[in-house]
Amino acid sequence: MNFEKIEALNQEIDLFPIENKADTENFRIKFLKYEIKALMEEIKNIPAEQRKEYGIAVNATKNKAETKWKEAQEKLEQNEDSNIFDNFDFTLPIAAHASGAIHPLHLVKQKVIEIFERIGFSVADGPEIEDDFHNFTALNFPPDHPAREMQDTFFLEKNPDILLRTHTSSVQVRMMQSQKPPIRMIMPGRVFRNEAITARANCIFHQVEGLYIGENVSLVDLKQTLYHFAKEMFGEGTKIRFRSSYFPFTEISAEVDISCGKFSETTCKICGGSESVCKGSGWIEILGCGMVDPNVLEACGIDSEKYTGFAFGMGIERIAMIKYQIKDLRLFTENDVRFLRQFAGVL
Ligand code: DAH
Repeated sequence: MNFEKIEALNQEIDLFPIENKADTENFRIKFLKYEIKALMEEIKNIPAEQRKEYGIAVNATKNKAETKWKEAQEKLEQNEDSNIFDNFDFTLPIAAHASGAIHPLHLVKQKVIEIFERIGFSVADGPEIEDDFHNFTALNFPPDHPAREMQDTFFLEKNPDILLRTHTSSVQVRMMQSQKPPIRMIMPGRVFRNEAITARANCIFHQVEGLYIGENVSLVDLKQTLYHFAKEMFGEGTKIRFRSSYFPFTEISAEVDISCGKFSETTCKICGGSESVCKGSGWIEILGCGMVDPNVLEACGIDSEKYTGFAFGMGIERIAMIKYQIKDLRLFTENDVRFLRQFAGVL
């Protein structure tokens, strides 16, 4: 009776149609994995005198199934090799290479550098860990002067002379100490302030400092330079406005606003007319600036009788927020790809 089972299985193996990969796999599972194994397990129920014959017959069936499966498998492999181009449409465009995006802060930094390099400024860098002299004293912040409180500083606990720079103005000092006028430089970099992280403040952010020291450098030069910058960064037609302000290292000092487009005929490029950034005033603050205080020139070894100069400092995050309508500072550091991806292809 078990021999009948073997015979039936032989027939089934012969008749099983194998046309493709799925059939080949089904064949393997049905016969090699289950049916033949079941026949082999039967051997213990076969009378002893028939066992040998039974074993030979089951083995033959197993070989038969294996041979058929191997042949099917080989055929499939050959077909795969020879047919690889048969169903290939050579006119299809290649899959687009997924390119990444440049971080918006880097985009803005590069743009600032580009604008100033074209008008003769070179780029410099300075240390993020500074001493009191370069961050404060040389910049005309006397010891215990309340102006130091304007910037919440991270001091080194064991040595309060060492701190994380609160502004890139410290690099101005290093440049004036190490170079002879004329000095025309911009200094981008990371700065640190002891502030809680919110949508509008962070304890780490970026600035670009500008400095021009030479003979007869005047407020007119400062105004023209910043006007040029505003037009290049925010577009032709951008106006600038100087508001008088205070910084210890400049005299006179000003804050600069750009016109946001509220009063032009075309829709505001910055907020689309919602007035969310200018709060209805039509002006947006972008930087601080002034004529370098003679005390600063002297502290850095530059003859203040012979030379004058201007300086300015801007926050890169602030420029990026205005330029790309970003409402929350934290987006810059979260590295959410849905945010970053939006800057793919932006230059
Ligand atoms: N250092 C200032 C700050 O962090 C910004 C600044 C203002 C820089 C006026 C300057 C300047 O060079 O002239 O708030």
